[in-house]
Amino acid sequence: MMMKVVIATHNKDKLKELKRGLNQLNIDLLDLSRFSEVGEIIEDGKTLEENALIKAKEVFRLTGLPSIADDTGLEVDALNGKPGVFTARFAGENCSYMDNVNKMLKVMKKIKISDRGAVFKTVIAFFDGKKELLSIGEVKGMIATEKKGLGGFGYDSIFYVVNEGKTFAEMTIEKKNIISHRGKAIKNLTPKLKSYLETNIKEIA
Ligand code: IMP
Repeated sequence: MMMKVVIATHNKDKLKELKRGLNQLNIDLLDLSRFSEVGEIIEDGKTLEENALIKAKEVFRLTGLPSIADDTGLEVDALNGKPGVFTARFAGENCSYMDNVNKMLKVMKKIKISDRGAVFKTVIAFFDGKKELLSIGEVKGMIATEKKGLGGFGYDSIFYVVNEGKTFAEMTIEKKNIISHRGKAIKNLTPKLKSYLETNIKEIA
């Protein structure tokens, strides 16, 4: 029997990328739409690591199944690494993707091209009641001066990857998943999770 693992996110865009990235593992990936008992989880950690673990542990507690969660932050050089852990709420509580993008463009309006560097970071956490696994992925880029591209989500239309000459929103999901923060975090997690599952499969199944 294939092992079941819950992807601990209500964000459909993240879910799509995580499912694609993790599908090479021989596990049955379930999403939260099946678990009405899991509501909004309060992310009050001080770091991406803490928040990813809070989500994975809470979903494990509520579902009794091994869980995988992602926490992501955008660190902008000109803003001394902000918004970081507050990336989702940059434009205020319950703001939309567009509110965040517009606020970022506004606060960066006077910043010259050479000072627009930024890093996108994702931490992925796995928890099954016994074992915590963490992996990190990062990608360097720049905050564009205007929105470009229609793909992706969140800040993708203003996150410009210099080597590609494109924003994330101008890339296919396949390309984004290869070079992105989340793609790299998934790549780092895969061998760790594979070897853990292989050695523990009898107990878990
Ligand atoms: P969280 O990990 O759910 O706290 O999300 C952090 C914030 O970053 C949210 O505003 C997301 O929309 C945004 N975000 C997360 N992943 C990505 C991405 O891959 N591209 C662009 N924005 C993202």
